[in-house]
Amino acid sequence: MKVEVFLTGNTLTEEDVKGHTVIVIDVLRTSSTIVTALSNGARAVVPAADMAEAGKIAANLDQSSFLMGGERGGDKIEGYHLGNSPLEYTPDVVEDKTLILNTTNGTAAIANARAAEHLVVGCFLNARRVVDFAREQGLDVVIVCAGWRNRIALEDTLCAGLLLHLLWDGQEPAHVSDSAHIAFTLYRHDGNDLFAALRRCNHAQRLYEQGFADDVAYCARVDYLPVLPYFEESRLVRYDPARAESALSESPALRARD
Ligand code: MLT
Repeated sequence: MKVEVFLTGNTLTEEDVKGHTVIVIDVLRTSSTIVTALSNGARAVVPAADMAEAGKIAANLDQSSFLMGGERGGDKIEGYHLGNSPLEYTPDVVEDKTLILNTTNGTAAIANARAAEHLVVGCFLNARRVVDFAREQGLDVVIVCAGWRNRIALEDTLCAGLLLHLLWDGQEPAHVSDSAHIAFTLYRHDGNDLFAALRRCNHAQRLYEQGFADDVAYCARVDYLPVLPYFEESRLVRYDPARAESALSESPALRARD
């Protein structure tokens, strides 16, 4: 199983993801919000590439069946029901709801990876669950770090390093891509105190300034919610092996793999 890492999510092409298992990481905070919402009973999360797409998706849904969530500059988008703090997505708020989520970097990176064979969302909260899934599928893997405005985000690269550490059982193979080596080495260096490393990240500093300190502490928890957001029919749902199995029989690439 080959693993490639994209340190930012904006340069991804269909060719990069077709036939692969793709893991999109946006630790602060989109991935953590999606995992939390699905863990708290949300029916589905529909990731929007941008404002226009979010509006189009909402226009096509029964107005009472969904909630709009998202941020710009870290704060809730005007007119939306929710921001992008995972701590807002509590069971009493999201149970049985479809959420349309629109964020600066995270949902845009997910949208860029839609052509993947399997597309899942990863963060520290569900790290081992994501790695187990990638192993089960046996396809080559692409890890996409959402980053921040086309720049590397340390927290996403650190999380990619943790996933590689788990995928490789702590032993870096002889031949890996430079970006995978960077992520693995960063995790080797900072992995023993993830929260300390996260607090130093530029985006964590921005969130502290905006009063979201609890979000940073929450998003640093490893394997706290072993839930796997899985992309199917343009939305993210809680992964259900039974349903995926039936999808298997329909997928030419997976049939070809076996
Ligand atoms: C993003 O997608 O850019 C982040 O998740 C923004 C945030 O929630 O702070």
